[in-house]
Amino acid sequence: MGWTDVLKPRLSVKYIFWALVTSYFSICILFRMPFFSSKLPAYTGPYKVGTIDIEAPVEKRNISEARFANGGKPAFELETVLFSLYYPANKDARSHRPHHHWISRPVGLHAEGYARFAHINNFFTNNLFTFSLWTLAGSTTIPAEVDVPLNGTIKGYRNYDKEHPLDDYGLPRHPVIVFSHGMASSRTSYTQYCAELASRGFVVAAIEHRDGSGPGSVIMSEGKVKHRFHINADQLDPSPETADFKVMQLAYRQAEIEETVRVLRQLNEGIGGDFYRSNPREEGKDLAEWRGRLIVDSMVISGHSYGATGALQALAGGPTYERPFVGAVILDPGKQSGPLNDDIHVPMIIIHSQSWSNSYSIFQGRPHFDVVKDIAVKNLDEHHKFTWFMTSIGTTHPSVTDAPLIEPLLLSWTTGATIEVREGVKQYVLATEDFMHFLSTEQRKGVLKEETTHPRYDEDIRDEDRKQHMDQEVAKYWQIHVAPTTACAAPGLCGVWPDRAGRPGS
Ligand SMILES: *[C@@H]1O[C@H](CO)[C@@H](O)[C@H](O)[C@H]1NC(C)=O
Ligand SMILES: *[C@@H]1O[C@H](CO)[C@@H](O)[C@H](O)[C@H]1NC(C)=O
Repeated sequence: MGWTDVLKPRLSVKYIFWALVTSYFSICILFRMPFFSSKLPAYTGPYKVGTIDIEAPVEKRNISEARFANGGKPAFELETVLFSLYYPANKDARSHRPHHHWISRPVGLHAEGYARFAHINNFFTNNLFTFSLWTLAGSTTIPAEVDVPLNGTIKGYRNYDKEHPLDDYGLPRHPVIVFSHGMASSRTSYTQYCAELASRGFVVAAIEHRDGSGPGSVIMSEGKVKHRFHINADQLDPSPETADFKVMQLAYRQAEIEETVRVLRQLNEGIGGDFYRSNPREEGKDLAEWRGRLIVDSMVISGHSYGATGALQALAGGPTYERPFVGAVILDPGKQSGPLNDDIHVPMIIIHSQSWSNSYSIFQGRPHFDVVKDIAVKNLDEHHKFTWFMTSIGTTHPSVTDAPLIEPLLLSWTTGATIEVREGVKQYVLATEDFMHFLSTEQRKGVLKEETTHPRYDEDIRDEDRKQHMDQEVAKYWQIHVAPTTACAAPGLCGVWPDRAGRPGS
């Protein structure tokens, strides 16, 4: 890279990156802020939060025949599945282990990954990327307690003892959410969202996909450590069309989702001790106690961006044993990640960030917003499943990730988010919690209590009366594009008819 290139303004990732780094440090100096980033805030729900990294072996297989041009190794061989569990812990839980780093080690792997995104990869730039990442977020840690027992586990209580019927102890089973990240992300990119949900009683499994869409991931299998970098289609032989490449990546992601479900089922069966012993991450010492503590036959799938596209795909033909998803939380479904599946037959909320709704883009030959809205309408009006589609006001695409919490100034400058960063994540958490509440009780609360306010983005159909009587928090933070009616079909049946007009469901 020549320095003259840097001085010539153009919209390359490389240019933007350097512009950001330079402006960031200038701002820090100007406003006397520390170079180091903000800490991730403490979680606000009633439970303390624990976290465990699990890397579990899978039945080895090639998800696609594609190989690397350089060396001929298979590009989509599945060896292990990796995810972070976030879960409700005991009140007094304190780990003797240090908090997990937000950028998992080695930092240089991620730096090289981002450099590959930018199509530059050499020793000099990689080290600069490493340095920048290190100064920006290298010291940031995730405030969840590492490898503490699940809430309710009492020392010596021997849940793993199959002779003792579980119900003797009256311990609750926790609902499970499987979370799939977006492009250029990893299992630690959404920790605030995931852990906030855990602090509200849910067990969240945040997968780290090794489909080559992330900046980099470490695969630990059979005593060996491999680095999975970001993959560009032109690195494969034969080099696939972009659309075919996405199909391969999404198939790989789906296999990882299914393997995660399998591990969660097995934890619930009580063989967590086996996962602990084979876990190269050396965490999960109390996993044997997880027997019977998870609701595994009806899980919820969630994902952001590329992950939302994958989550929609995982709902096709479901629920099934491998994909037992009875609900979905779809956040900013991809604009560039291939067609979106609309064969869905379970309740769902789709949340767009404001930047996803207000920027017009053509997707599969039609406006992206309309495509997404049609998926919601079809599920609601044709399949009679409760469905909501809404926009979170003031947010941008990364608002649900940890990035704005760590670098608030940088992110609001570059993406134009106007919502306060903590409020942004909070609104996503509350809507998800409302949806989980709805799934278990059929009661609508919070934003889910309202009917449509804006059938199209920014097209307000409320009259003055409704504006005044609406929950002001909901009015402030949401535009609701699709929602089931709240009309009463009969006394006691207000809002239980799952379509917009109020026809009964199946
Ligand atoms: C995956 O494909 C490669 C190359 O074709 C082959 O060497 C390898 O054995 C395959 N892996 C499995 C688990 O089948
Ligand atoms: C589990 O969490 C709840 C909610 O915070 C708390 O009241 C309870 O004491 C916890 N259980 C234990 C054993 O700490």
